[in-house]
Amino acid sequence: MKKVLSGIQPSGQLTLGNYIGAMRNFVKLQHTHRCFFMVVDMHAVTVPQEPAALREQSEAVAALFIAAGIDPAKSSVFMQSHVSAHAELGWLMTTLSYMGELERMTQFKDKSAGKESVGTGLFTYPALMAADILLYNADQVPVGDDQKQHLELTRDLAHRFNTRFGELFTIPEPYIPEVGARIMSLDDASKKMSKSNPNPGSYIALLDPPDVIRKKLSRAVTDSGREVKYDPKNKPEISNLISIYTHCSDISVAEIEAKYEGQGYGAFKKDVAEAVVATLEPLQQRYRDIRESGEIGNFLRKGAAEAAEAAAPTLREAKRLMGFLLP
Ligand code: AMP
Ligand code: TRP
Repeated sequence: MKKVLSGIQPSGQLTLGNYIGAMRNFVKLQHTHRCFFMVVDMHAVTVPQEPAALREQSEAVAALFIAAGIDPAKSSVFMQSHVSAHAELGWLMTTLSYMGELERMTQFKDKSAGKESVGTGLFTYPALMAADILLYNADQVPVGDDQKQHLELTRDLAHRFNTRFGELFTIPEPYIPEVGARIMSLDDASKKMSKSNPNPGSYIALLDPPDVIRKKLSRAVTDSGREVKYDPKNKPEISNLISIYTHCSDISVAEIEAKYEGQGYGAFKKDVAEAVVATLEPLQQRYRDIRESGEIGNFLRKGAAEAAEAAAPTLREAKRLMGFLLP
């Protein structure tokens, strides 16, 4: 069985962008692949986190994985920090990476722009991400478009290790949706929808109540035309809403275009909102049930044990090939 690994940071509310770009594919792939899904808390602390908020968000993201449809009996769901092999292989990958290639990472450039002091963890973040993936010899990594560059670096590091020390790591492939790989902000379609945007009207959080979702979508910026047409270059706002709609309804892009021909944006925006509400309401109900059940700790313990068992032989072999004396 081919392997899949992905992770999401517990740094703030998850958005519809995370869901469409990544989590929906997690759910899909679990039926055909051996899957590992992590809450990457060690990545989250590359920027300052308030400890109580980090703890709460970590549990919330784990519960959202399960609420979104990941079956913990099928897939291993765990906290990155619960499997110490990540930190260990992360260090080895750091030693294999070059300043120049890390400096080119756009996520680093964005997150460090204008900051007076920038943590070194933010800089070496992609080496830890490479370790996350390579530890399990993942074949496919479901992510949104913004992670493509990190995946490229992971492939380079895997190849570098294999060439220098001996064949060990599988070279992973990104698994990115064709439509919806980059869900954009509702107030500015040139920026990706992000939980770190200070304007909450710019994103839909997975836990936003239905009326908030309706309000945010009715206020979503659109162009001054009236044609519902998927054309990301010339109509980025409408195309973004079409991406959201098709993912939340399973109505194809072509069918959506045909359905609203000659009708303007009003009815379309209302229907997008109802589709999003219909998708998120059951997820929110499951989320509340899981949080109340007090079962998350058990899922995470089971997931971490499975992950640790899968990761241990790879870490040991990486150390052996690099010339470490094994205990
Ligand atoms: P993060 O929240 O940065 O940990 O991202 C978790 C996953 O969600 C990654 O695979 C991202 O590529 C994906 N993602 C985040 N924001 C978006 C977005 N606006 N559109 C599509 N995918 C996204
Ligand atoms: N860097 C990813 C993000 O910001 C999160 C991440 C960490 C990840 N480790 C990973 C994604 C391994 C896929 C595989 O979204």
